[in-house]
Order: sequence, then structure tokens, then C-alpha cells
Amino acid sequence: MDIFEIHGQTGISKVLVGERLQNLPKYLPPTKCIIITDTYVKNHYHHLFPDFNLIELESGEHTKNLETLKEIYAKLLDYEADRSTFIVGIGGGVVCDLAGFAASTYMRGLDFGFVATSLLAQVDASVGGKNAINFRGYKNIVGTFHQPRFVICDLELLDTLPQTEILNGLAEILKHALIGDPELFSFLERHFEKKDSADRDFFQRVVHDSIAVKAAVVERDERESGERRILNFGHTLGHAIEKTTLLSHGEAISLGMVFAVRYSEKKKKLEATESEKILSLFYKMKLPMDSAFDKTRVLAAIRKDKKREADRIHFVFLKDIGTPEVAKISFHELEESIHDLC
Ligand SMILES: NC(=O)c1ccc[n+]([C@@H]2O[C@H](COP(=O)([O-])OP(=O)(O)OC[C@H]3O[C@@H](n4cnc5c(N)ncnc54)[C@H](O)[C@@H]3O)[C@@H](O)[C@H]2O)c1
Ligand SMILES: [Zn+2]
Repeated sequence: MDIFEIHGQTGISKVLVGERLQNLPKYLPPTKCIIITDTYVKNHYHHLFPDFNLIELESGEHTKNLETLKEIYAKLLDYEADRSTFIVGIGGGVVCDLAGFAASTYMRGLDFGFVATSLLAQVDASVGGKNAINFRGYKNIVGTFHQPRFVICDLELLDTLPQTEILNGLAEILKHALIGDPELFSFLERHFEKKDSADRDFFQRVVHDSIAVKAAVVERDERESGERRILNFGHTLGHAIEKTTLLSHGEAISLGMVFAVRYSEKKKKLEATESEKILSLFYKMKLPMDSAFDKTRVLAAIRKDKKREADRIHFVFLKDIGTPEVAKISFHELEESIHDLC
């Protein structure tokens, strides 16, 4: 097992990579605990949950809204949760976001922890202290910054995760390699094809290294005033594609990252040889590199992006593998490049 400590403004968060769900009680305080999970995760793993009151949510992104939050608050009242109650979210990114948001707002904030069950939640959603829900079509627009006390990343739970969900996590792992870890990039180059789908050593290494990149960025800039923006690499275009097509998050941000790589090369920030090396790894990892999408709709979605400031946008370029650069560019320039490179 590998353990990280993230020192955040709301306390220390321990991330335990390779710990098991059945050891969860070891990390719980001796107070009342309430579990929040979703239907699929409960169906697979209920037999491993400790015996506490349970709040079960429908699975899927559509539940990440205010209505579900109201249901959670109502259940917390029914179960007589008070300031000393500890909340545990067991699930993917949706459960972690909802459990973290509910816990950090109910009675002005209860302590909470996560068992991250999807690859994406392990390498991204459960780490970093952001908890948010969607509202009126805006993704993650209402939220809190509040660190979980612990995050258990049980790699054995990945055995039941559908392949499309694995791909969502792999796309974020490659993102972390590109913005912060050239060695992780080389490891993926060398080992990706050889790995078995249930290769525990492969996942232990890539989940660990990926969290190391995210944890370091979060510690330096917890509230996204600057450096944390690099975590949005590939996401400006990616989010807009995800919103306007049927592609998954992983597929959409892969297209966004491929665009960012080509754009970086076009702006002479990134050498052509490096760009070629990066694109070959996308190919090897079977991450999509080209897909038709409606550019007008995608551009309209970027315009709506909450991160846009006036007519300029923060865009994450790459100068090298592991070296990102955030620059403000005009929306007009971005529009032209999308027409040109996609
Ligand atoms: N807070 C953050 O910093 C942050 C960062 C990245 C993403 N997110 C959020 O995370 C969410 C996406 O997370 P996700 O991809 O985990 O989605 P998800 O939580 O919807 O999980 C994907 C699917 O896999 C199922 N599942 C989860 N674990 C399983 C397992 N072990 N076996 C079988 N099925 C399992 C879930 O029930 C769901 O159907 C988005 O809402 C996104 O906004 C948040
Ligand atoms: Zn993402």
C-alpha cells in the first residue's frame, strides 16, 4: 500500500492506494457513521460494507443535482446525524462529489471520507478537496472546498468496472503524466500493451503516480487561483465536446488533449518529435484522437464555460512532456485553431 498526505486548509487528507474496502472500519472514528453509495456499487459490494445506516442513490451523472442533495439532507435528519457524525462516500466520482458536498454543508460541515471505486474517482475525483454538483446544465457550478479525512483506493474493485469507465480513468492518468510526470509517460509507453486488464501492479503504479501529480498541484494551489488550472489540460475543448456529443468524459478529454498537443506544436511551444511521441501513446492506449463533432455547437458551449473571463480564456499548452504552460488567449484565436486543427 502507498500512502499520501495532502495538507489542505480544512485539514490533512490521507490517500491510501492499494488499501481494501473491507479495512474501512480501521479508519473510522468511534462515532456514528453513515454511508452514501449508489445502486451499482451497492449491488456489487454491499457484503463488504460495515453495518451502518446507508443512503443509496441512483447511479449516474444525472443524480448529481440539488434534488438528490435534498434527499440526502432529509435522510441525514431521519438518521439523526449530528455534528459528530462521520460520512463515508463509497462509489465513483458522482458519489464522492455528492457525499463530500452534503457532508461539508450539513450542519456547517461534518467530517467525511471516501472509498473511491472507479478508476476516475481514484486518480482524480476523490483527491483534491473539491465537491460540487451540477445546476441548470452547468457542470460542477455549485460546490465547496473541503478535504476528505481519507480516501481508500481499492484496486481490486476495478475488476467489476466496465471498460468504458476504465478508459475515463486512463485518460486522466495520461493527462497527469503529460502535465507533471515524464517517467509515468515512459512507463505507460513501455507497459501499457503488456498489461492484463486486471494487472494489479500496473494499476498500483499508475494510480500512485497519477495521484502524486494531482496531490502536488493541489497542495501548491488548493483553491485554483493559478497553478491548479493545469489540471484542466484538454478540458476546455473536452468539456464542450462531452456536453454536445454522446462521447464519454474520457473520450471527450482525449480529443481535447490531442487538440491541445497539436495547438502547442502549431504555436511552436512543443517540438514536432515530442508531439508525435505523445500522439503515438494516445494511439497505443486506444484513446480517441479524431472524431467528427459539430464545431458550432462546441464553440457555443465553450463560450458558456464558467472558467471563461471576458473574451479571453485560460488555455493549457504543453512545452514538453511534463511541462505545461497556461496562457490567456482570445476566444477568436481558439475558434480559428479549432477550425484549423480539428
Ligand atoms: N471533485 C473533483 O475534483 C472531480 C474531479 C473529476 C471528476 N469529478 C466528477 O466525477 C464524476 C465522474 O466520476 P466517475 O467516472 O467515477 O462516474 P460515476 O460515479 O458515475 O461512476 C461511473 C459508473 O461506474 C459505476 N461504478 C463505480 N464503481 C464501480 C465498480 N467498482 N464496479 C462497477 N461499477 C462501478 C457507477 O455506479 C457508475 O455507473 C463527474 O461527475 C465529475 O464531475 C469530480
Ligand atoms: Zn476530467
